[in-house]
This record gives sequence, structure tokens and C-alpha cells, in this order.
Amino acid sequence: MKKFITLCCACAAMLMLLTAPVASAKELSGKLEIFSWWAGDEGPALQALIDQYKAANPKVEVVNATVTGGSGVNAKAVLKTRMLGGEPPDSFQVHAGQELIGTWVKADRMEDLTFLFKEQGWEKVFPAGLVKQIGTDKGIWSVPVNIHRSNVVWYVPENLKKWGIAAPASWDEFFAAAEVLKAKGIVPLALAENWTINHLWESVALSAIGVENWEALWSGKLAFDSQAGVKAWQLFGKVLEYTNKDAASLSWQQATDMVVDGRAAFNIMGDWAAGYMTTTKKLVPGKDFGWAASPGTGGKFMFLADSFGLPKGAPNRDNVIAWLTLLGSREGSDAFNPLKGSISARTDSDLTKYNVYGQSAAADFSKDLIVGSLAHGVSANEGFMNDFASVMEMFLKSRDAMAAAKAAQQIAVKNGIGK
Ligand code: GAL
Repeated sequence: MKKFITLCCACAAMLMLLTAPVASAKELSGKLEIFSWWAGDEGPALQALIDQYKAANPKVEVVNATVTGGSGVNAKAVLKTRMLGGEPPDSFQVHAGQELIGTWVKADRMEDLTFLFKEQGWEKVFPAGLVKQIGTDKGIWSVPVNIHRSNVVWYVPENLKKWGIAAPASWDEFFAAAEVLKAKGIVPLALAENWTINHLWESVALSAIGVENWEALWSGKLAFDSQAGVKAWQLFGKVLEYTNKDAASLSWQQATDMVVDGRAAFNIMGDWAAGYMTTTKKLVPGKDFGWAASPGTGGKFMFLADSFGLPKGAPNRDNVIAWLTLLGSREGSDAFNPLKGSISARTDSDLTKYNVYGQSAAADFSKDLIVGSLAHGVSANEGFMNDFASVMEMFLKSRDAMAAAKAAQQIAVKNGIGK
């Protein structure tokens, strides 16, 4: 009996060692405020990370501060007030690319995280192209937690079959299918509130002008009011004719619901829609819903990456460093992304943890031409994005492609695009 008890104690001790949270050398305590727009339906993936953090740092009180609103429409405004008011959250969601570099890094509000990248060996596990989007010659400014794809069209295979149409590979194919759908009283393309219109615009523009021109717009080599630029707005205007009239009052999830419920045939949305359909709605990818590159963008992967950084003056710096370390880890990333619909930003992720959608996105990311998203912070700074919203508003009223292209060129110059 005694032997047995000794053995049990030894086993228990071993188990404790094995399962003990991989804690930082010193035990962390106090608070950690994480600021993001991942509220409600968008929350489960973030919660998985927070659970891991809490297990490793039980004495830290995690404050999950969210401001609802897809693509951060409301959160970014609150963040701005806090940052400018000298009350930064400990860590906040920010897109890799110009949203980070052209806004918060430019304003000298972030701490350089090069030390953490070196310590964790991250320069070797994150793709060089991505590290470029979060770095400048002065440092590395955030930790990417995922790669999302923006140019995806979603549909329900069974419904398409019923309606006698296929997922369109080009906009011409879409227009042909859309006529069939309209005659049946089905909305061809579900659209939601304003930011999702910008989201649609980037997919349409990419297909209208191609990868080289898309890049050239952001490096300042191609004017927005060039022939290619005008073409993008013309095609966009035509696409809008096949969308629902109540778009402005819907959230992105409600537009996805229209497809799932069979009220609409297609929706173009980032692959957080895959996360919503699998994690929240418990649908089976490949069976209950299907996907393809948005029309005319096959072989192109328009990417964006959510990341978190360490603002200067963060109240709980050590707790943030532990948070960022978790975000960049293989374990953290592979807990978060399968729920989120995104793929890991790490090149060594465990794909067996992902469903067929995630696996196909990972395969595409490794072979497609990669371009940066405008609507989600990669290509342009916040100044341009804010002005672009007004250009879009004007276009929605006037449907004047030339005027929109000219206005876009003006705001590009004003916001230093390509400088
Ligand atoms: C994007 C963000 C995604 C998702 C989406 C909808 O900007 O990168 O993670 O949250 O907005 O809100």
C-alpha cells in the first residue's frame, strides 16, 4: 500500500510538472486589457487564446474589452480616442500593413518588438513578406495571429444545383447566373453595411485591373483615375445592381445568413465567414457551404492579418509580453485559427487541426499570388480609408465611375499613398 501511495505521489508530481502552465520565469499578476472588435459571434477564437493565457497565468485578470462592429468600424474610433488621450489598452487588435505602420508606428505610439521576435525565433517561422508588413527599418511592431483571405465567394452547393447555376469564375459568368436568379426572386449577391461595400470593391477592383495594377495603385505608380482605375469603378457599379436594397441595415453575419437561408445565392466576404458558419452555425464546410475565389480572382489571394502590439505606456507591460508570446506561438495560433476561419501566420502550423476550408486556404496561400487588402488595413493608412468611405458614399449616390476615380486619386495624393 505504502509503495502504491509513493508511486501515486510520484506520478502526481510528474503530472503536475507536465501539465504545469508554461509560465514565465516570474509569476505574473495584475491585469491585462485586450482591446478588439471580436465581440459576440466573433469571440470564440479569441476566447480560446484567453483560456490558454489564463491557464498559464492564473493570477492575471484578463479584461476582454471589445467594441462590436465588423472590421473594427467602431473599435478603431474608440481606440483612437484612448491612444490620443494617453490611455492605451495593454494590447490592441490592428491589421498588419499600413493600418499599423502608417498610423500608430508613424505616430511613434508603439514599442519595438524585435527583441521578442529574436527571443522566440519568429523571423524564421513567419513568412518574410508578412514580417515586412509589420516592420520598418526601425523595428518590428506587432505579432500576427492569423492570415485571413478577403477575396472569397460563399454559397450553398445544394441551392446552386436547385437553381441550375454554378459558382462563377468570372464576373461575366456571375452576370449570366444573376439574371437566372433574379427571375426566380433570389438575391444574386448578398451585401451588408458600408464597410462590406469596400470589401466587395477590392475583390471587384482586383479582378478588373489585375495584380500588377493593384500593387501599382498603392506604390503610387498607377493613378486611381487611370483607365484601369475607372474600369474598376465601372465594373463595381454593374455588380452593385445585383445586390439587396436593405444592405446598409445588415451586419456581415446577416448577409452570410441570407446565403445560408437560401434568400441569396452568393456573398463575397473574408473567411471569418467560414469561422462564423462552422463555429457559430455548426455548418459543415464543403457540404453545407462551398467557396471559391471571388469572380476573376482565381489564383490570387488577397490577404490581411490581425495582429496585436505593445503600445507605449501600456499599464501592464510584462503581462502583454506574455500575451504576445502566446499569440505568436504554434500552440496559441493553432487553437485560435481553426475557430476563426483563418490560417496560422506561422509556416509550421499543424494543418490536421483545421477543417477542409482551412486546409484549402493554406494550400492556396502557399501557391497563389499574394496581394494586400485595402478594406482591412494592408494597403493604405487610416487617413486614406476614412476618405475612401466618403468617395464610396458619393459613388453609391451618383454611380459616376469617372468622378469616383478622380476623387480616389485626390485622396491618394492627400494621404501620401506611394510616398
Ligand atoms: C476584419 C478582421 C477579421 C474579422 C472581420 C469582421 O477586419 O481582420 O478578423 O474580425 O474584420 O469583423
